[in-house]
Amino acid sequence: MPPLSKKLENALNEQIKNEISSAYLYLAMSAYCASANLKGAAHWLQVQWEEEIGHATKLLDHVLERGNKAALKAIEQPEGEYASLEEVFEHVLEHERGVTASIYKLCDLALQEKDYATQAFLQWFVTEQVEEERAAQEIVDTLKLAGAGASKTGGPVLLMIDRQLAARTKE
Ligand code: FEO
Repeated sequence: MPPLSKKLENALNEQIKNEISSAYLYLAMSAYCASANLKGAAHWLQVQWEEEIGHATKLLDHVLERGNKAALKAIEQPEGEYASLEEVFEHVLEHERGVTASIYKLCDLALQEKDYATQAFLQWFVTEQVEEERAAQEIVDTLKLAGAGASKTGGPVLLMIDRQLAARTKE
């Protein structure tokens, strides 16, 4: 298998950075939730942090397996303050939509470069993004249904949602 084109190598290295940035964002959100005594949400986001590290590692392995150079880029400080749990998960959803767009761009580039092995490799990420967006959307919808009062000031409904989030298991 020949090495990745330079364009694809750069784009995959950029995506490694995106996944590590996602991990860091979710760790910051988890810390915020832990400080707000939302232990279930903190756990959910901690599992997500681990998943994102897994995504970055998967990409890194692909770059290295093709005999290319992995270049780890600097990441920015993530947002760590939120007004409510609803705001946290709206941010998760928006973030994941952005990740999906970056994966689609990678798929386009792999096709342009006629790198069908990378195109096939990226299909795992396409499927994963469907699941990530669905999970975030479901939580946002539940929090909206619970009402602003429940999601901003606490109460039994918020506690119940937090317990549901605590049940998330690692894949
Ligand atoms: Fe790795 Fe949440 O996208």
